[in-house]
Amino acid sequence: MLNKKEVEEIRKDFLYLDKKYNNPIVYLDNAATSQKPIQVIDSVSEYYKYENANPHRGAHTLSVLSTEVYENGRKKVAKFINAREESEVVFTRNTTESLNLLAYSYANEKLKEGDEIVISIMEHHSNLVTWQEAAKKTNAKLKYLYIDKKTKQLDFEEFKNAITEKTKIFSITQASNVVGTMPDVEKMIKYVKSVNKDCICIVDCAQYIPHNKVDVQKLGCDFLVFSGHKMLSIMGAGVLYGRKELLNSLKPFLYGGDMIEYVFEDKSSYLDAPGRFEAGTQDVGAVKSLISAIDYIENIGIENIRDYEKSLMDYAYDRILEKSDIIDVYTTNDKNRSPVLDFNFKEAHPHDVASIMDSFGIAIRSGHHCAQPLHRYLQTNFSCRASFAFYNTIEEVDFFIEHLEDVRRLMRIGTK
Ligand SMILES: Cc1ncc(COP(=O)(O)O)c(C=O)c1O
Repeated sequence: MLNKKEVEEIRKDFLYLDKKYNNPIVYLDNAATSQKPIQVIDSVSEYYKYENANPHRGAHTLSVLSTEVYENGRKKVAKFINAREESEVVFTRNTTESLNLLAYSYANEKLKEGDEIVISIMEHHSNLVTWQEAAKKTNAKLKYLYIDKKTKQLDFEEFKNAITEKTKIFSITQASNVVGTMPDVEKMIKYVKSVNKDCICIVDCAQYIPHNKVDVQKLGCDFLVFSGHKMLSIMGAGVLYGRKELLNSLKPFLYGGDMIEYVFEDKSSYLDAPGRFEAGTQDVGAVKSLISAIDYIENIGIENIRDYEKSLMDYAYDRILEKSDIIDVYTTNDKNRSPVLDFNFKEAHPHDVASIMDSFGIAIRSGHHCAQPLHRYLQTNFSCRASFAFYNTIEEVDFFIEHLEDVRRLMRIGTK
């Protein structure tokens, strides 16, 4: 686990901590997007200074260099998630685009009336609205797995009952961005495949991969999606991992340059994956930053990151529970959880809470966190969320907890 001195060193790489804002910033909105270390920012600058050209399209030196950067990114990601080969990695803009690609290319083609799609009530809208639309278009049925309202855990028996031979798509988050629950996705996929080996199993890894080791072969998933920007990379590099034979059985999502084999006036043929899913000019700068982000994470060690963040999270969770007279906590009490602390003041709107926190320099998220059905299920419309990363400190957690008292004071909560 990271020690205090190591975290101090790491913090030197995050320049927002140096800048003079109205207040020093305590950034606790890491689940929305991470901050970027200087090494990642510099890698993009290097790309645009010395390696920039349109990749895959030129015979000249710079285009070859740009292609190399891009394809090295694919190799890097493949190794990072233990894909069988690099052609199983497709670059998209983000998790949302990866899921839309799947819903469009797979569902529209292969789903039919009576088929079933199983997701959970915890899903981010990107893994929910996509399947709603796919179900609407194909007359497939969308089924939800519900969490226990107290523990925020899925019930394995209920899950088993939901999976049948009609289940054609099972798509689930590996870590909830609201309640922090981390379902045993590996065990679930094993069960799904035992009932219907052809059911497509998709893992939304957006909140899991910044904090944990991911091994797609061990998970046994067919597809896995995530966003680079939540794991130190700049915005614009998303990943769709897919088993090679499945990727090659899907129709392209976007058509145009760089994804074709032959084009005639009346018909065209397409490259194999990953090329067939990467039409148009790719975001090589973002992919370069993802390479640098993975280097940065590997240099620290993902287990060190996970253990340190867990210590921050457990501490924050225990401290916020001390305020249960004024605060409801939604995050699961299971210690195997993602570092997101979700809560509501019983008598203050999350936007007021977030604004008061901001006046002290504390950045937390307020709103529905793109999970309206989950909030409704938990009988609220919105919540506050503080989410932690390895460059946060115990002192920052204390600062955040202490300023919750200012919300109590300023909103006159519990006073006559
Ligand atoms: C669990 C989960 N899935 C998907 C997404 C969507 O990610 P993006 O906005 O990068 O597409 C998010 C974003 O917060 C998320 O938390």
